[in-house]
Amino acid sequence: MIRVLYVTSEVFPLIKTGGLADVSASLPEALCRLEYDVQILLPGYPDALKAARKTGSSQRVSFQVGQYTVSLWQTRLPGTAVTLWLVDCPPLFDRPGNPYKNEEGKDWWDNAHRFDLFGQVGAMIAMGEAGLDWKPDLVHCNDWQTGLIPVFLETYQDRPGTVFTIHNLAYQGLFPHDTFHALKLPDSLWRLEQLEFFDQLSFIKGGLVFSDRITTVSPGYAREIQTPEFGHGLDGLLRHRQQALTGILNGIDTRVWNPEQDPALAFHYGQDHLKNKAHCQASLQLELGLELKGGPVLGFIGRLVEQKGVDWLIAAMPELLEQGCQFVILGSGEACYEEPLKELARQWPGKMSLTLGYNEALAHRLTAGCDLFLMPSRFEPCGLNQMYSLRYGTVPVVHRVGGLADTVQDPQDVGIDKANGFSFTGASAESLLDASKRALQLFQNTKHWRQLQKNGMAIDYSWKQRARTYASLYQRILKERDQPQLD
Ligand code: ADP
Ligand code: GLC
Repeated sequence: MIRVLYVTSEVFPLIKTGGLADVSASLPEALCRLEYDVQILLPGYPDALKAARKTGSSQRVSFQVGQYTVSLWQTRLPGTAVTLWLVDCPPLFDRPGNPYKNEEGKDWWDNAHRFDLFGQVGAMIAMGEAGLDWKPDLVHCNDWQTGLIPVFLETYQDRPGTVFTIHNLAYQGLFPHDTFHALKLPDSLWRLEQLEFFDQLSFIKGGLVFSDRITTVSPGYAREIQTPEFGHGLDGLLRHRQQALTGILNGIDTRVWNPEQDPALAFHYGQDHLKNKAHCQASLQLELGLELKGGPVLGFIGRLVEQKGVDWLIAAMPELLEQGCQFVILGSGEACYEEPLKELARQWPGKMSLTLGYNEALAHRLTAGCDLFLMPSRFEPCGLNQMYSLRYGTVPVVHRVGGLADTVQDPQDVGIDKANGFSFTGASAESLLDASKRALQLFQNTKHWRQLQKNGMAIDYSWKQRARTYASLYQRILKERDQPQLD
């Protein structure tokens, strides 16, 4: 059985700021179902340790890494059989709330030290130096927080294989030169071809330069990040490594996101019995104090940051509200987006609902209760919300980029028989507005609308097939490294 250490800074339901957490839970589980021994490594955030205590956990080993005493707690990812290791190091991880930022929304001053230590522990487990009776054949790293692991492993001849997955190239883990010294990284790494990025230390470059293979979360994004427009300064490096780079579309947890059984919903529905979706909409309107009338209800869920095109959304909303649309917005993020959204909610009582904050159950009810779901992201590595919406018969309107382009088909391109949503190419509020208006026009035609909904609901979004693609990639890496593949 192939053993994989899956290293991540978030995992649902223990700690989540975005889609990385969802993927980090469902991909390892899907791989375990394929008989891979995948074990997850996560920092010991207080909520995660608390949850682990409830599920049952044991402290397995304790050792010194530099000035820090580190303990490894072993538990299971709640509701699954997947083994989860927590890196308990209170001075670095015993901080409440967001895993990367303080209460004022600023990055923790010592993030480089926190994720350097996390990486060192990952590398120790990978090399069998942490005192566990388990050693992986392969280490799967995710995003910049794990970028130093392939660097630490590079010096070992008999190291496991390494994969680095880019969930979002915009977050690179950049730190000043002083930090590079403070982490005591060898001077030889301070080069453009290695960890230096415009005079800064780049954690993500560790993953991109040193891992055996690089993946990202959609084929579209894999192509885009090799261009200056979407490459965030790393497109040259990614072009250089294009033979090692592949895009594998994310799946979703079809048990957590299932309109037939979703515990967050008062009414359930499915592809061939959509009637209750209208009840979900009425419940949502009641819950949020919106006028009780038929749609169209337009929704948005997400981090309120530049990536998500929230400024285009805000600019497009007044005209759509004037046309009689209702809006349901759930998210949190930067004040420059929260303030104008609050203002719109004040101006349009009963027609627009704004929930600032993070609310998993409401996200499910919103996804079920809306007619349209807007995702005007400037760039989107994969995007999970459009897939959740498609599965819930809620038609997405998206910017045609990254994973959004790979998952949403517009009737203008494929015809109504094959379409499942609407997409626009121009990067502007006007283009979003035009696509939304096209959607609203089609909404008037019940037969065509049902067709769109059903097309979206019929697609298989599960991880099963996609996990197989990761499994083949793992096999290929191990073969290339010429390691014994099976016990
Ligand atoms: P990203 O990872 O870039 O934020 P994704 O679409 O991949 O975007 O994933 C976002 C995930 O976070 C989805 O599961 C979405 O439902 C969830 N989410 C984002 N903001 C909120 C919120 N305010 N409340 C509840 N869930 C949220
Ligand atoms: C990132 C991306 C998002 C993707 C998620 C999971 O946060 O922004 O597009 O779906 O990771 O891979």
